[in-house]
Amino acid sequence: MSTLLSDLGADLPLIAAPMAGGPSTPELVTAAARAGGLGFLAGGYKTAQALAGQVHTTRAEGVSFGVNLFVPNPLPASREAYARYAREVQGEADRYGLTLPEEPIEDDDHRTDKIDLLTSSPVPWVSFTFGIPDRAVVSALRRAGSTVLQCVTSADEARRAADAGVDALIVQAPAAGRHSATLTPERPPVQVSLPDLIAGVRSAVALPLIATGGITTATDVAGALGAGAQAAMVGTVLLRTHESGASAPHKAALADPAFDTTVVTRAFIGRPARALRNHFTDRYDALAPAGYPALHHLTSPLRKAATAAADTRLIHLWAGTGHRQAKAESIADTFAHLADQL
Ligand SMILES: Cc1cc2nc3c(=O)[nH]c(=O)nc-3n(C[C@H](O)[C@H](O)[C@H](O)COP(=O)(O)O)c2cc1C
Repeated sequence: MSTLLSDLGADLPLIAAPMAGGPSTPELVTAAARAGGLGFLAGGYKTAQALAGQVHTTRAEGVSFGVNLFVPNPLPASREAYARYAREVQGEADRYGLTLPEEPIEDDDHRTDKIDLLTSSPVPWVSFTFGIPDRAVVSALRRAGSTVLQCVTSADEARRAADAGVDALIVQAPAAGRHSATLTPERPPVQVSLPDLIAGVRSAVALPLIATGGITTATDVAGALGAGAQAAMVGTVLLRTHESGASAPHKAALADPAFDTTVVTRAFIGRPARALRNHFTDRYDALAPAGYPALHHLTSPLRKAATAAADTRLIHLWAGTGHRQAKAESIADTFAHLADQL
């Protein structure tokens, strides 16, 4: 067992990935810790106040946990491309009586407030995705007592994260559900297997590594550890668990034979993210320009309305390639299956 996890009292090298937008509840993170692993709260898309509430609730359970934040790595949409795409998508929104934002909304996801929250009220682990924070931010969090982790998708990104002074890396393979952590979201993620990616990063940097992306079975966990990772981080396989806050239509679609493949698309948020293939990805993937967070804000009201109406043609059904392994069971049961070959 690695010191990275055992220092926080974990018995299993298993980590519940941060999953913004609902799935990562304090209940899920607490259950992951009680099942012998660790979990991350998802700070993305929340105000600092909302995140503070979740931190407070989880801390009160007396478990160790991490918090994940987005680092802005803006991919501005051109006004014309945005307007063209907004007109297309508005056709779907009309059926819900919604008016989508006509102008691109660019924001930094309340970044400074959330960093201030985590330096003044530190949590054991803080992880970053989308961009690499400045050295000064990394140092401030480390001084406050947090272990700082960076999500990377290549050996080159790993070197850059190491230069910023982080303590450990989360190495994400392209099989992962939802957000690709790539630092170059204007390009599709490079296809590489998780073990090959771990080996490549291992030869580039000496930091402890956590593997993620497409890990859904005990064999996958053993493979990731065998390739040199100290722990396996899982997202998709937890989406249908009792403790997951994923929406009911999302949970149902993950097990529905009608949704049999995943695609990497920027149709929903303007940067690459993996979801179950549905009407929205089929119709809009080729039309969607790069543009984050503008496309996230554009489609957000439509996705919310579609979720409330259980309209799976339009919902962002985030999923990794291993979605068929996601079971409606407790996290403790899922972790027990995943730990079967350890
Ligand atoms: C629904 C969902 C939401 C996610 N949200 C985040 C997030 O907020 N921050 C982040 O760093 N990664 C996010 N991810 C990616 C996970 O951290 C992780 O890399 C991925 O789930 C691993 O691949 P897997 O889904 O095949 O297990 C999300 C993944 C899913 C499925």
